Order: sequence, then structure tokens, then C-alpha cells
Amino acid sequence: MPPLLPLVLDEVSFVAGRRTILDRVSLTLTAGTRTVLLGPNGAGKSVLLRLMHGLIPPTTGAVRWNDENASSLRRRQAMVFQRPVLFRRSALANLRFALAVAGVPRVEREYRARNALARVGLSPIADQPALRLSGGEQQRLALARAWMLAPDVLFLDEPTANLDPGSTAEIERIVQAIHDGGTKIVLVTHNLGQAKRLADEIVFLSGGRLRERSEAARFFRQPTTAEALAYLEGELPWRMPSDVSP
Ligand SMILES: Nc1ncnc2c1ncn2[C@@H]1O[C@H](COP(=O)(O)OP(=O)(O)OP(=O)(O)O)[C@@H](O)[C@H]1O
Ligand SMILES: [Mg+2]
Repeated sequence: MPPLLPLVLDEVSFVAGRRTILDRVSLTLTAGTRTVLLGPNGAGKSVLLRLMHGLIPPTTGAVRWNDENASSLRRRQAMVFQRPVLFRRSALANLRFALAVAGVPRVEREYRARNALARVGLSPIADQPALRLSGGEQQRLALARAWMLAPDVLFLDEPTANLDPGSTAEIERIVQAIHDGGTKIVLVTHNLGQAKRLADEIVFLSGGRLRERSEAARFFRQPTTAEALAYLEGELPWRMPSDVSP
């Protein structure tokens, strides 16, 4: 089986009605590194993630995986959202169900589901209804579900929004373990501490455009665009240096 990555975005635009949400974004994502997408609200980060995951098609431009086999594409990449999509069943049954959908033989499902729960520290709540778990537990369950299928790539859209510092640290530990297992991580966050802890490289978007892409430490030390500088300093858009006329 050819490697799934790199993923190449070639001049990708997404237009809704008259609005250009993403404007000619070109980007190559390679295996092995943790990529963190940063940018202000409405920059187009979630739309970009959904495009990469194949949930929506670009209006123009192309999204190309190294392995273009469609069935392997679905199987080999996973996505975790800010609010996980779980079924009205126990935590364990949610995982068994995902394994069934993935075509895992029935005899293996119980063992693999329990193993996945254990890896995220949720064994004690295996039989509780998934929808009654706390936000942090639900997010760990969603991560267990993605992780147990050993995807080549995992997309995460603000997985720790609304979580307390302890739950956030726990999620970060799990994301790190998934990375250590060889899964490419592509994460969107507004938590700059989290970006510093988890990122190898930063991709910075604003106004639907890719403004900056650099090694993480360098991005935080020395952002090169006015937009990134303004975001890091928490400045308002109308005070951005680029808007000041000469
Ligand atoms: N399917 C769609 N049709 C029309 N407009 C959309 C669609 N999806 C998103 N948008 C718009 O595109 C813009 C970018 O949205 P997106 O959700 O990608 O932003 P974001 O960078 O993820 O922001 P946040 O940090 O708030 O999550 C927003 O103005 C949003 O309203
Ligand atoms: Mg978003």
C-alpha cells in the first residue's frame, strides 16, 4: 500500500455564494510532523480541515493525497470535532459500533474496544451512556474511537475548547501518544500554550488566506506577517500595521 501522505493542496479556493471563504491556499502536509493551524475566528480553519478530510469539495483547485485510492482514503484518516458525535449507547458500545463499521470481525471488537478505552483512561466508565459523560470524557472517547483504527492522519478541530486545564492536559497527552504511534496530527486551536506544546510547524490563516507557515518555535519568536503578529498580540484587525496607509 503506498503511503497516504503527503497531502498536497494546490490553489484551493472555497466560495459560498459570493463569499470567498478560502482563497487559493497551497500547502503540502507531510508525515511525521505535528501541524497546528492558527488564525482568528472566521479565518477559514474549520473549512480548510473539512476540505482536507474530504467532507466538502473545493470550488476550485485540488486536494491530492499521495495514495488516491478512495476506499483507503476513508479508512486511513480520521477527524475529531470540538463537540464529538456520539451515539445514545454506552461508551464501550460506541467503540464496538465504530469497529463494526470499519469491518473489524465481531470476535475482535470487544477486546479492541476495551483496549482503546484503557488507553485513554476510560475503563471505569465503559458501561455508562456516552451522552452522559462529561465534555472531557466525551472528547477522550472520541479520541479513543479515532485512535483504535490507527489512522495515518488525524484532524482535530479545537478538541479542548470548553475543557478545564486538567482535561486539556489529558487530551494533549493522548494527542502526543497518537503522534508517537506514527499518526500525522493536524490540529486547530486558539490555545497558544497548546500550540507551543504540541506543534512542530504552524500554518497561519487569516481572511481565507494562508499568511504564514513556519517551524513552530520560529513562528512564536518571530512571526513574519503583520496578520500573525496582530493575532499573537491580540490586536484588533483595524489596528493592523498593514492597514495603516503610508
Ligand atoms: N458551508 C458554508 N457555507 C457558507 N459559509 C460558510 C460555510 N462554512 C463556513 N462558512 C463561513 O466561512 C467562514 C470561515 O469559517 P470557519 O468555520 O472555517 O472559520 P474558523 O477559522 O474555523 O473560525 P473559528 O476560529 O471561529 O472556529 C466563516 O465566516 C463562516 O461563516
Ligand atoms: Mg473553526
